[in-house]
Amino acid sequence: MEDRPITLSPSLSNTHSSSEEDKAVLQVSGGASLHGHVGISGAKNSALVIMAGALLCSSQDCRIRNVPALADVTRMGEILSALGVKLERQGDSLLVNASHIAQSKAPYELVSQLRASFFVIGPLLARLGVAKIPLPGGCAIGARPVALHVRGLQAMGADVQIDHGIVNAHLRGRNKRLQGAKIYLDYPSVGATETLMMAATLAEGETTIENAAQEPEVADLANFCRAMGAKIRGAGTNTITIVGVPSLHTTDYAIIPDRVEAGTFLIAGAITHSEISLSPVIPDHLTAVIAKLHAIGAQVIEDAPNRLRILPGYRHLATDIETLPYPGFPTDMQAPFMALLTLSDGDSVITETVFENRLRHVAELTRMGADIRVKGTHAIVRGVPMLSGAPVVATDLRASAALVLAGLAARGTTVIQGLQHLDRGYENLELKLQKLGANLKRLPSVEHLESPLIVPETTIAVPVAEPS
Ligand code: UD1
Repeated sequence: MEDRPITLSPSLSNTHSSSEEDKAVLQVSGGASLHGHVGISGAKNSALVIMAGALLCSSQDCRIRNVPALADVTRMGEILSALGVKLERQGDSLLVNASHIAQSKAPYELVSQLRASFFVIGPLLARLGVAKIPLPGGCAIGARPVALHVRGLQAMGADVQIDHGIVNAHLRGRNKRLQGAKIYLDYPSVGATETLMMAATLAEGETTIENAAQEPEVADLANFCRAMGAKIRGAGTNTITIVGVPSLHTTDYAIIPDRVEAGTFLIAGAITHSEISLSPVIPDHLTAVIAKLHAIGAQVIEDAPNRLRILPGYRHLATDIETLPYPGFPTDMQAPFMALLTLSDGDSVITETVFENRLRHVAELTRMGADIRVKGTHAIVRGVPMLSGAPVVATDLRASAALVLAGLAARGTTVIQGLQHLDRGYENLELKLQKLGANLKRLPSVEHLESPLIVPETTIAVPVAEPS
């Protein structure tokens, strides 16, 4: 059999990009054992929504601490700047001054790159009585509609129309403020809960959100709003009550540690059979992930407050996983956990219930020798004794983490393209892994690989669907 030089997965064609950064590749040499301690950054999803929440503060600077340096945070900053908000980075703090909001319309080019930026619709409407936000559109993991956000704002007295792809919202009639309302969400959407909770902080009267999302980032946003003077009860449960106040004041607030980053490092320890510790973490936020690690035979202990340690295991067993809203198993951990299950003994069934198109990493893991079949929203993972390094393409943020994890455990070299996804949500992932002893480095492009990669004839690139 004749070896041939590196070829790209067909799915790369979905990742058209001209920028130099997007050509970068991560070269991961598998097999190294990890050891040591890793610091966990602030939660991406908290940072993004709390930045939007800072729009509610009409007095001076809000200081948000523990803000990770991520591409998504930069984009959210660009959107706030486009609205006339002043931002300043000071170390891991972000100073946000929204005392003067010059614009009620967010630019399409920015919103289309970052779905979370749609969440500014709530605070903008509450502050200005008007907001024009382009529909964020689909993304690599699904259609991600905003009907729940829109219906909730309508219940609070907003007229909301969608014209030419722009959601135009303004206060109905002579109302000067949104009106408190009883809102039931058909699905506990994180973004809808956050949008409506932010809007309700400045509304007239009481709002209740039933079947609210219970994610820790929702509670974090509520704590931030409370620190600015908002009256919110029940965040973190499925019923949130907000009593509107006329205005909110400045605050100094530190966001929670990133539970998805922490979970990713626990899996890095498990998949390389290594002992590593991580902090700061809030172990309660990781209950579902730790339960599944225990189910496959991995040992995770809380050896100090806010610190977790994963102990080296010999072999792992299969387990079934179904993604669910919190406190269920998080969809954001599905791809990373799948990487681990590819090497566990037996058959695991992974069911993705939150996003309809979030199994695209299967094709790339298969390129590395994983045995996975997809049937609808189920992935049946048959554990194999070994993965082998291969050229692969990250199709979305958590898929990129899954490929790094698989690469750490694989025999040989894995070359990961599509790093713009990784950079959206992991702060210094390579550096953190290098400090733990992993052998990986970022190169400007495939042309900089030390030795040309070889793709064996038997490697099959499974075609994947275009993002919806
Ligand atoms: C947030 C997180 C994302 C995480 C997801 C689920 C941020 C910035 N992102 O995304 O990392 O994976 O929660 O935990 O916080 N839906 C509707 N109608 C709506 C809104 C949502 O049908 O109006 C559906 C979505 O299509 C999806 C499901 O609800 O199937 C969950 O989405 P949602 O909880 O809203 O996720 P996001 O807030 O976008």
